[in-house]
Amino acid sequence: MSVVELKKENRLGFVTINRPKVLNALNAEVLSELDQIISNICQDKEIDVVIFSGAGEKAFVAGADISEMKDKSPQESYTFARQGQVLFQRIQELPQPTIAAINGFALGGGCELAMSCDMRIATDKAKFGQPEVALGIIPGFGGTQRLPRLIGRAKAMEIILTGRTISAVEALDLGLVNKVVSAENLLAEAVNLAEAILAKGPYAIRQAKVAINKGLEVDINIGCELEGNLFALCFGEEQKEGMSAFLEKRAPIYEK
Ligand code: CAA
Repeated sequence: MSVVELKKENRLGFVTINRPKVLNALNAEVLSELDQIISNICQDKEIDVVIFSGAGEKAFVAGADISEMKDKSPQESYTFARQGQVLFQRIQELPQPTIAAINGFALGGGCELAMSCDMRIATDKAKFGQPEVALGIIPGFGGTQRLPRLIGRAKAMEIILTGRTISAVEALDLGLVNKVVSAENLLAEAVNLAEAILAKGPYAIRQAKVAINKGLEVDINIGCELEGNLFALCFGEEQKEGMSAFLEKRAPIYEK
């Protein structure tokens, strides 16, 4: 049995972390399988949007596997943190847009995995947090970096320093999630969002993702320069079809 599964359907890739008995905790095996799956998705021309979820009814991912971490030396824990950080950065930099569909606990490494996705949809039962300080550690898979970038320094400071749990409603209020839905509708809502993206120019979608993600890491002048270059790169077959379709009052037909 794989601890990470990839299913493909109608231009969507569904990645499921599959260790429900331990609330999908991230151990070395999960990180290694996820790494391989991310490499495959990166090259896969049949996948245009990726949806991440956790198996079972209780959790997206309840964090890094504490039983595996407990006896690590400082050197081993550094290697472990870097492994997770590099993997989550690869997820952030996937060419395809990514959506985390969060059905329950998204704690520690689980919150960090969700934050490495481009968008997050959560059920009203979802719970978020970076509880690491309660274990005598700090977030190690990018949480101290992505949380303040997403919700601002003061709120991120409060959440990481107290380790408190955040409800789905508060997560929505903070801008940590895009939308809160009922459990029955979670997957359908994630697919709806994906389909709204799939209907648009596929090349433009990928350039927009790069412009936003890379632009956030640099000053606005460099970001605008990047945007200008990516804008120019869009002027080709896809753009001709999009603009012709508009002028001819018909739906565009985009080829990949
Ligand atoms: N690692 C290993 N096992 C975990 C786990 C984790 N992060 N989270 C849950 N589990 C296991 C439990 O040990 C338990 O296993 P057993 O049935 O064998 O006892 C099983 O999953 C079910 O969990 P609970 O019985 O605890 O379920 P609950 O509903 O009572 O509580 C919970 C749910 C509040 C999420 C609780 O499990 C919990 O607090 N989990 C740990 C959350 C956490 O601290 N995450 C951060 C980890 S550190 C990290 O992620 C560092 C980093 O940045 C990389």
